[in-house]
Amino acid sequence: MKRTVRFIVNGHSVEVDVYPHWNLLRVLRDELELTGAKQGCGEGECGACTVLVNGAPVNSCIYPVLEAEGKEVLTIEGLMTERGELHPIQQAFLDKAGVQCGFCTPGMIMSAKALLDANPKPTEDEIRHAIAGNMCRCTGYVQIVESVMQAAEVMSKRSG
Ligand code: FES
Ligand code: FES
Repeated sequence: MKRTVRFIVNGHSVEVDVYPHWNLLRVLRDELELTGAKQGCGEGECGACTVLVNGAPVNSCIYPVLEAEGKEVLTIEGLMTERGELHPIQQAFLDKAGVQCGFCTPGMIMSAKALLDANPKPTEDEIRHAIAGNMCRCTGYVQIVESVMQAAEVMSKRSG
């Protein structure tokens, strides 16, 4: 039997009828049409489905949707401003070629967002640690780390 779950996605309250066994990724993608978070392994291993719940990164493919009740969920779609400007992390991934095939990118960016919110000036090691749960099968992590470094710089200048 379906149940109603209520939570906040990218600043908007939503109410969705779900089966209790559904995971958050399924609801975001199939019920709310927020397809930025990707389904990779579906087993909590690759990080392609990473979104933030109350500011913390979670693998939404294994996060029971009922646990989102009353919480704030942020997806990659929520990073862009209402005027359509990219978030500095998104811009940095474009500038520094952190986007390769791009499948892992939404998850990487959300992990980077959680890191930079908590630690605005991370070291390279701290960045590598923060994205350790996000797999990229392309050419490697150098450009991704550089992207996060650039984003940190831009964001710290903006915050003054
Ligand atoms: S799809 Fe969720 S961790 Fe891989
Ligand atoms: S850019 Fe292709 S998997 Fe990361």
